[in-house]
Amino acid sequence: MIHSIRKCLATAGALMVMACAAFAETPASPSPAPDAYAATKRLGRGTNILGYDPIWKEAAKGRLKEKHFKLLGQAGFNHVRMNLQAFAFMDKDNKLSPEWFKTLDWAVKNARENGLAVIIDQHNFVEVGNEGEALKPKLLAFWKQVAPHFKDASADVYFEILNEPNGKLTAELWNQWLVECLAIIRETNPTRTVIIGPSWWNSIKDLDKLKLPENDHNIILTMHYYSPMEFTHQGAYWATEFTKLSGIKWGTEAEKKQVVDDFKVIDTWAKAHKRPVLLGEFGAYDKGNPDIASRALYTSHVARTAESLGWAWSYWQFDSDFILYDIDKDCWSEGIRKALIP
Ligand code: BGC
Repeated sequence: MIHSIRKCLATAGALMVMACAAFAETPASPSPAPDAYAATKRLGRGTNILGYDPIWKEAAKGRLKEKHFKLLGQAGFNHVRMNLQAFAFMDKDNKLSPEWFKTLDWAVKNARENGLAVIIDQHNFVEVGNEGEALKPKLLAFWKQVAPHFKDASADVYFEILNEPNGKLTAELWNQWLVECLAIIRETNPTRTVIIGPSWWNSIKDLDKLKLPENDHNIILTMHYYSPMEFTHQGAYWATEFTKLSGIKWGTEAEKKQVVDDFKVIDTWAKAHKRPVLLGEFGAYDKGNPDIASRALYTSHVARTAESLGWAWSYWQFDSDFILYDIDKDCWSEGIRKALIP
């Protein structure tokens, strides 16, 4: 669908070897299972980071620097969602490289030192959507290594099993995979809060098909919201249906009400199933849509509506596109920052 031209990795995997040295953070003793609602409150306001940063290929070329974690903490953000396209850093036995872990540990350490909670988000959704079953060994291998690596990390480190399941990973398959991934995580992280969303790109369309394990309530439901796509993805090269659109504004009363109505659907499901909610991605593409007034209005309306329902949220994204911070000019995209944290 909208991510169709993202590059795709193939190669099914083999069995796992142990992950490299565990992430060190005090306290080392496992804390009791947090209440997922309290854990959601702790997540509060956040932003997505690192998904498309050259840092993964070469640490010295990283765009995200230590100072950005500090700036995020100072600006009032409570967490960062780290988008990890990790499959490219696995060897033929699906072993993640020590350099990849080193970069991840650096990022987690800097986030934690600046008071930010961390979401470890598995973000190889395009490849998994394209390949389906063939990539299941890689996804399981990811959690077999990443979960033990963070087993002693603070409860402020959260795991998100897979961003936006889609394509060949149907609702039915996803309901099976998520149980298997969760079982791997629970072997070493019995009390860690885990984040899971529905198939079809974590969108409302498939919410009713999602089956979360009844015996595990240390889970946060995650949803993504980019509606209306004509507005949020106008000019976006990967969203081919909307690439040619431009000049579309947002902000009528009917448009605002639509967000409220959509969120009510999610809220009703969440209350019925007793699951707290993280709005894990939302925003409007910047490059094809220079109308900052509309984008800021949309961003603020979505964030405030989410907050009014007690949800945590994570803005898409700090750097790269939809930007919250202009790393090249070394300044905030003020309209978006103020919309997120008034
Ligand atoms: C993808 C990004 C994309 C964004 C909005 C994310 O889940 O990783 O590549 O820009 O969604 O479409």
